[in-house]
Amino acid sequence: MNILVTGGLGFIGSHTVVELIENGYEVIIADNLINSKIEVLDKLHEITGVKPIFYEIDVTDEDKLEEIFSSHEINGVIHFAGLKAVGESVEKPLEYYYNNVVSTMALSKMCIKYGVGKFVFSSSATVYGDQPSPLREDMELKETTNPYGETKAMSERILMDVAKANKGFAVSLLRYFNPIGAHKSGLIGEDPNGIPNNLMPYVAKVAKGELDELNVFGDDYDTIDGTGVRDYIHVVDLAKGHVKAIENLSKGINIYNLGTGRGTSVLELVNTFIRVNNVDVPYKIVDRRPGDVAICYADPSKAERELGWKATLNLEDMVRDTWNFAKIG
Ligand code: NAD
Ligand code: UD1
Repeated sequence: MNILVTGGLGFIGSHTVVELIENGYEVIIADNLINSKIEVLDKLHEITGVKPIFYEIDVTDEDKLEEIFSSHEINGVIHFAGLKAVGESVEKPLEYYYNNVVSTMALSKMCIKYGVGKFVFSSSATVYGDQPSPLREDMELKETTNPYGETKAMSERILMDVAKANKGFAVSLLRYFNPIGAHKSGLIGEDPNGIPNNLMPYVAKVAKGELDELNVFGDDYDTIDGTGVRDYIHVVDLAKGHVKAIENLSKGINIYNLGTGRGTSVLELVNTFIRVNNVDVPYKIVDRRPGDVAICYADPSKAERELGWKATLNLEDMVRDTWNFAKIG
């Protein structure tokens, strides 16, 4: 089976490429390197012994996509390519809508034209809006709070309509919770440019001494210690979920939460990082970040029931592997 992986040199894409190759799939990567480095391709080779075919293209470009679809027999697409910084999406909405929505349309158009029947899409828990956790796939979606979230909600709706209109086109919408961690080799992981927006990469940079201290956004939420609660999931577990999604893709639209079902507060995460890695992470409490919800975690039981997938790695594995990658990078 040949799988086209868009955004395959990025954080989640690269880990998924490893799992696909280790499960016997042939992988073709399309990535324009807007948020990744070409060296990741060599790391993938080093980990798996296989160098995937690579196209440096923008996946909003239909002509470039067609070159790939017309020269390979593609059996499935996993669409990771996207811009993902929430704050930036508020400042540059058009860039986000264009990149994230047009890429989904261009890829699904090619799939219909070339008879590719399997499509897996990187969605996000952000599509649930502010609703009580545990979040379930059958909940009605609430308004998203930023353009990034809206691109995910729009892409989901577009793919649902395309699947409705094309019987041979099966889609899996995977709603990720908070992926952290890295491959155990330490060769691939999350390596954002500049100051990170997300908690785990920020903590890693503070531990390395590249940033002075962590700002904890609020300690007055109605949670175990007042700080925000999230469902952190090891990126390798998440990657394995994609292989299961491809293997068990039923006709039509399939929606799955990929999370652990366990909520962890900011301070629990930071203290686990300090304890497991035996490093210092200075922090201070500051105001809440606008747009944040207090608690967000998954009900992951549907994925377990229907895909036979369940997260197996725990918080200690996540912080250890994050640090193992960060300290040598
Ligand atoms: P990432 O930025 O590390 O990876 C995305 C990759 O896509 C990068 O390699 C980038 O260069 C590439 N890319 C972006 N636009 C492209 C385009 N037009 N053409 C070709 N390549 C392009 O991000 P990630 O964390 O690996 O996320 C992957 C997907 O999962 C994204 O769609 C993201 O929105 C979604 N997601 C991520 C998270 C998270 O917390 N990391 C949570 C929910 C959903
Ligand atoms: C954020 C996005 C979400 C996106 C996800 C993955 C927002 C509002 N949501 O989720 O749409 O899908 O990233 O890209 O931006 N925190 C701190 N200090 C920091 C950073 C974070 O205390 O420096 C706290 C936050 O308040 C939150 C938790 O850590 O309680 C996790 O934050 P983050 O890693 O940014 O993820 P989300 O906000 O869950």
